[in-house]
Amino acid sequence: MSTHDNRVAIVTGAARGIGQELAVQLAERGAKLALLDMGDCSETLAAVTAAGSEAIAVQCDVSSEADWISAREAVLGRFGRADILVNNAGIFPFANIDDLTPEVFRRVLNVNLEGAYLGVRTFAPVMAENGWGRIVNFASNSIATNLAGLSHYMASKMGVIGLTRGLANDLADRGITVNAIAPAITRTPGTSVMPSEITDAVWGQQAIKRFADPADIVGPVLFLTSDDAGFMTGQTISVDGGMMKL
Ligand SMILES: NC(=O)c1ccc[n+]([C@@H]2O[C@H](COP(=O)([O-])OP(=O)(O)OC[C@H]3O[C@@H](n4cnc5c(N)ncnc54)[C@H](O)[C@@H]3O)[C@@H](O)[C@H]2O)c1
Repeated sequence: MSTHDNRVAIVTGAARGIGQELAVQLAERGAKLALLDMGDCSETLAAVTAAGSEAIAVQCDVSSEADWISAREAVLGRFGRADILVNNAGIFPFANIDDLTPEVFRRVLNVNLEGAYLGVRTFAPVMAENGWGRIVNFASNSIATNLAGLSHYMASKMGVIGLTRGLANDLADRGITVNAIAPAITRTPGTSVMPSEITDAVWGQQAIKRFADPADIVGPVLFLTSDDAGFMTGQTISVDGGMMKL
């Protein structure tokens, strides 16, 4: 399918996990990719190229405004435009309030929430030049769980939902939609360190009772970044096997 032909998509956290799967599936649908990560994106770069697309890998700490400005220069230098931004990069260190230092609290907010803001601040004006843009932010269905040790993470992801609602209002007149997804607990390198009692207890709350794979999460992001979703904005979509229900 070529739903994303010639779109230029920026995916953060593209080195592994959900971001890597998303980059490959966007490439398979015709998008050109900018792979942003603090880590090594060479594996994703090879997979995107094997899928027949073009990509660049850019070292970027999403909490750094200077890194975002460098990333914009790299994207415009290679592709001359930007159409899609997926703010997927995120961190989820567990820390009960007894152990939650101000440094960990601020880092989680800086990466998960401020990182998304900086990405939009950097790339929305570029999308606006063509009067078309798609932004997808990553929330989490953990906000609805009773997991201990995630207050900072839940705060950051609730912030992402608020950011998404507000940005939808700000950017609608430029042809840019802004939505979020709230994934289920998903089998990635990031969750591989979690004990199975925790992961199994979370997915046990779902209607579809299994540990999600990155491919389960990516489909709705493809939809939200396509022409088909042009009249949807400001929404947070649960992609969680039916754990959260309206
Ligand atoms: N895996 C889950 O169970 C789950 C559930 C709900 C939401 N999410 C969200 O989905 C997103 C991806 O999760 P994942 O499980 O694939 O994570 P992961 O840990 O497997 O991969 C995250 C990637 O982001 C990169 N990254 C981390 N901090 C960064 C920074 N400051 N700047 C740039 N890159 C950075 C890492 O290098 C890594 O490549 C995150 O936002 C996470 O909060 C994940």
